[in-house]
Amino acid sequence: MALLETSGLTKRFNGLTAVDGVDLAIEAGERVSVIGPNGAGKTTLISLITRQLDRTEGEIVFHGESITDDAPHEIVQRGISKSFQTASIFPDLPVEENARIAAIAAENGSFRFDFFRHEQSYPGIADAARETLQSVGLWDQRETAAKNLPYGDKRRLELGIALAAEPELLLMDEPTAGMSPEETNATVELIESVKEEFGLTFVLVEHDMEIVFNVSDRIVVLNRGRVIAEGPPDDIRENEDVQAAYLGGGGEA
Ligand SMILES: Nc1ncnc2c1ncn2[C@@H]1O[C@H](COP(=O)(O)OP(=O)(O)OP(=O)(O)O)[C@@H](O)[C@H]1O
Ligand SMILES: [Mg+2]
Repeated sequence: MALLETSGLTKRFNGLTAVDGVDLAIEAGERVSVIGPNGAGKTTLISLITRQLDRTEGEIVFHGESITDDAPHEIVQRGISKSFQTASIFPDLPVEENARIAAIAAENGSFRFDFFRHEQSYPGIADAARETLQSVGLWDQRETAAKNLPYGDKRRLELGIALAAEPELLLMDEPTAGMSPEETNATVELIESVKEEFGLTFVLVEHDMEIVFNVSDRIVVLNRGRVIAEGPPDDIRENEDVQAAYLGGGGEA
């Protein structure tokens, strides 16, 4: 049984079908990239899985259970986290405090319930926060206010916060968007380390083909909301439909 399965997943915005009958099966431990031209429906697909958007049609199953009607916080409790393109950071708080809050949230399922409970009553929070920051290479910056971190480090903190929830499935939407080449390299290394250290299953949306070909076991190609190809990186590189979608500006009707 696949870890995550979508069947006939469809999202229409008024007249526009952004995601069109997508059948996906992600196996546990698999690293899958979703690529496609601008407007192909990649972000919409991710938002359907996190339940930030309601689907128009179709079904989403995680661990054999339907999550199609879950609330977004229930998705997180089930073990699906999204990193990047999310406002998960408290900008005025130091890096370490952000990591502690993430650790408390992970412990509680949702920090909404018990946000003001005294931290000392959570054994292991300080350790968990330290481990998180060490794993994303931010321990030395722990006293810096999050808003004062360089852009790439902010992204690393977001990834750390997502990992603190100890997700089984990590969703990433364009983690290197807007980064300098140095920050991009650091982020790719981070994704590689996540792949090795945590053995996570991930779905990565990414425009940079070098990154995609390096970190993926399998690539899913979307065009106008439909899956037009999927397979290992070498097959996708050679695929004529994929080349046509990119060269032909397949985003426009
Ligand atoms: N909230 C919305 N309301 C109406 N249309 C939307 C909405 N969100 C996305 N769309 C449309 O749905 C289509 C798919 O958009 P989406 O953002 O999923 O594409 P994408 O593959 O992530 O593109 P990009 O590579 O540019 O990030 C686009 O035509 C977009 O304009
Ligand atoms: Mg997008």
